[in-house]
Amino acid sequence: MKTAAVAATFLFALILGATPARAQDGVGPGDVERGELLGYTCMGCHGIEGLRNGYPSFRVPKLGGQKAAYIEAALRGYRDGERGHSTMHAQASSLSEQDIRDLAAYFATLGTATVEAGGSQTDGIPAAATCVACHGPNGIAVQPQWPTLAGQHEDYLVHALKQYRDGVRKNPLMAPFAQALSDADIKLLAQYYASLDGLETTLKE
Ligand code: HEC
Ligand code: HEC
Repeated sequence: MKTAAVAATFLFALILGATPARAQDGVGPGDVERGELLGYTCMGCHGIEGLRNGYPSFRVPKLGGQKAAYIEAALRGYRDGERGHSTMHAQASSLSEQDIRDLAAYFATLGTATVEAGGSQTDGIPAAATCVACHGPNGIAVQPQWPTLAGQHEDYLVHALKQYRDGVRKNPLMAPFAQALSDADIKLLAQYYASLDGLETTLKE
């Protein structure tokens, strides 16, 4: 199991072309074991099924099944202020680049979100037509640096979409798509993606 996890991490690094380029900045590939130690505090929220954020009230996002590259990107977003959440900013601002890489490598071993190859399930949801290009026809991201949406908590999806729409989360890829959505679209999309099989809460052991 551990060997498989390490192999998977190494494979990601290769896919991302990370090893040669990033070796120069003094940051190595993600270390799953170190990530597990660092990740202990994170599990206090992400490892508890259905735990809620205080205000606004929504459930803490599931991380099991997201790819390392996306987890890294999200953590940098909180650290650098492109994502405006004070607790996650506090969590992320004390992390080094190596810490981020290690945490992402660890969390990426905790779940899988894959679907049988098959047709799109988005028929009947017109607003989802543009989303599939990046988030996949079944809500499974088509690139490792983009988030999988399938199985995520519905209220978190609503919260995240409104944040892109209102500019609280700044992301050049998401902003134009989110700005085109009405509240009713957001509700429907969140319900739809939450209903699919995919992400899981990785429970604290
Ligand atoms: C006090 C509870 C809490 C703790 C502790 C915490 N998180 Fe979070 N985390 C959250 C909440 C709430 C969000 C959603 C924030 C938002 O509005 O963007 C979040 C978002 C995230 C996301 C983005 C998920 C997504 O789908 O985009 C990642 C990645 C993440 N946290 C990783 C971590 C890591 C790694 C740690 C430990 C260093 C950690 N979190 C500690 C509550 C917490
Ligand atoms: C061009 C690619 C692209 C398209 C098209 C796109 N997204 Fe995204 N989406 C992204 C990226 C990249 C992120 C992560 C941005 C960040 O780092 O905050 C994201 C983030 C999200 C998130 C937050 C996930 C999380 O875990 O926090 C949601 C929800 C989302 N997108 C829904 C949608 C919906 C619904 C549509 C269609 C209306 C859509 N996206 C269209 C690329 C895209």
